[in-house]
Amino acid sequence: MTSRNISAKNILVIHGPNLNLLGIREPGIYGKTTLDDINRKLYEISLAAEARLEVFQSNSEGELIGRVQQAMRDETDFIIINPAGLTHTSIALRDALAATGLPFIEIHLSNIYAREAFRQKSYFSDLAIGVISGLGAKGYELALQSALSE
Ligand code: DQA
Repeated sequence: MTSRNISAKNILVIHGPNLNLLGIREPGIYGKTTLDDINRKLYEISLAAEARLEVFQSNSEGELIGRVQQAMRDETDFIIINPAGLTHTSIALRDALAATGLPFIEIHLSNIYAREAFRQKSYFSDLAIGVISGLGAKGYELALQSALSE
């Protein structure tokens, strides 16, 4: 095993509710790129960087909280999360992330600050080490590159 492998990063990407519909869901807002396309690109980047990547999507708040809690027990070093609609509602998912103490980046495909007033409140941003909002699928790649360089 090389020293690069020993220090390999374990990155967890979490996609919240309805992101399984990317590509067909309101493409004028979220684009035509599918979640599979996004994940494929993230796996390519991770492979090249010899990092380990796990991707998790759920439409259930409870499952998302469960996966975040699991990150306290597995080897996760860093979380990239698009909480989707839960961004604006979920104190419980926020609390789960806070409990892990892990660094995370919050991602949104759309610019939530240029949309309805109810989207302009995030329960995550003040805990995140950074927020990327409005850069579409590219935002995930930028977040991953940043996580890899941490
Ligand atoms: C979103 C923005 C949220 O307001 C919305 O509920 C989503 C997706 C985004 O990626 O732009 O589901 O997080």
